[in-house]
Amino acid sequence: MTDLKNKAARKSGFNRRDFFRGSGAIAAATALQTQTAEAIQNQSPRVISGETSISLNVNGKDHQVKVAPNTTLLDALRYQLDLTGAKPVSSDGSSGASTVFVDGKPMTASTILALQAVGKKIETVESLGADAVQKAFVKHDAEQCGFCTPGFVMAVRSLLDKKPNASKEEIRGGLNGNICRCGTYANIVEAAISVAKGGN
Ligand code: FES
Repeated sequence: MTDLKNKAARKSGFNRRDFFRGSGAIAAATALQTQTAEAIQNQSPRVISGETSISLNVNGKDHQVKVAPNTTLLDALRYQLDLTGAKPVSSDGSSGASTVFVDGKPMTASTILALQAVGKKIETVESLGADAVQKAFVKHDAEQCGFCTPGFVMAVRSLLDKKPNASKEEIRGGLNGNICRCGTYANIVEAAISVAKGGN
């Protein structure tokens, strides 16, 4: 009888030993899943409602601001710190008009929550002062209404910080995240080229 069972098991390719081995693996996987679910539950995010007082490091100084959970960094900069350089053109950041540096990287302040900016170094266009890029924009008449200009200035500054001698093509490519509805692209690129060549 045992021989018959063994023969049948060999034929089907499955036996009691495989079954118990499989059950053990399933039990271990289930235990692991339970542990993971518990760990996730323990780490569930804190729900924040109402206004919270936070500190933002902007242009080298710490500032106390009160923000709601959905306050963007752009709103905190403009309406609490009176830094109106970054512009509210597109809430999805597609215009690039709200470009600021976050820990040295260009990012659109309209797409970042103020709460996410805590502990980071924020730099706005106001921090550039009499930067060569700003001077070049004036010299090359690189603006009309000026709404896109702070975002372009920050984008050019970031590009030339990484690549001081960027070519025309590199400049055009580096600015493709910014939109100018007045169409002053040619002058913006000329301004950037002049800085890349060491002038303004
Ligand atoms: S100068 Fe008007 S949008 Fe660029």
